[in-house]
Amino acid sequence: MTDTRTWLADTRDSYDTVATSYAEIVRDLLERAPYELAALALFADLVRTGGGGPIADVGCGPGRITALLRRHGADAFGIDLSPAMIEIARRENPGVRFEVGSMTELDLPDASVGGLLAWYSLIHIPDDEVGRVLAHFHRALRPRGLLMLGFHVGDTVNLKTEGYGGHPMKVHVHLRQPEKLAAWLRDAGFVVEAQMVTTSAESRLGGTMFARRPR
Ligand SMILES: C[S@@+](CC[C@H](N)C(=O)[O-])C[C@H]1O[C@@H](n2cnc3c(N)ncnc32)[C@H](O)[C@@H]1O
Repeated sequence: MTDTRTWLADTRDSYDTVATSYAEIVRDLLERAPYELAALALFADLVRTGGGGPIADVGCGPGRITALLRRHGADAFGIDLSPAMIEIARRENPGVRFEVGSMTELDLPDASVGGLLAWYSLIHIPDDEVGRVLAHFHRALRPRGLLMLGFHVGDTVNLKTEGYGGHPMKVHVHLRQPEKLAAWLRDAGFVVEAQMVTTSAESRLGGTMFARRPR
């Protein structure tokens, strides 16, 4: 069993350290990721036409995707483990709801959101904790609600010891095959509706997946 407190604390401290440089580096990345940009717009649209409701951006970082979803008309808000990330998100998006929290103990009421996005954030959750996180996602989504994931495709677990301008980090990055994630999603009660793999500024090999809570 993984020691949850250690890896969560390491992940939080790492993103607190890099928050400012991370926000600068990723600010315009999506402009060089046209397929992901279109998929995120589609996500906002599918949530709206499928019954609406708020969208939770879980692992929102500095809030760039939360802001994008809002530009597409979604009632999006953000949650992140890193207080420094949340501080930047709040500063850059005045009036938008951003809260510190962990997806491992997701503090959202049952059936309270129409959409839930985890964009390159589930990548930091070890395999033996993913089921618990997906159960939270399923619980928080209303019936027919839509989940969207962004993730690095591969089979390795990489320990990142520095990043985003050479700052020290201690964070594990779990690369996963779409089939593996799809199987976990089905086990958690989701129906996988679509997936794509792209090469872009977001990821050398990036996966995007849509899955629905059926009822
Ligand atoms: C690679 S960044 C992606 C940030 C944002 N989604 C984006 O694309 O700009 C990963 C983010 O996930 C957050 N994170 C990692 N583990 C988390 C957890 N257990 N709960 C909530 N957020 C988490 C980190 O703090 C970090 O902001």
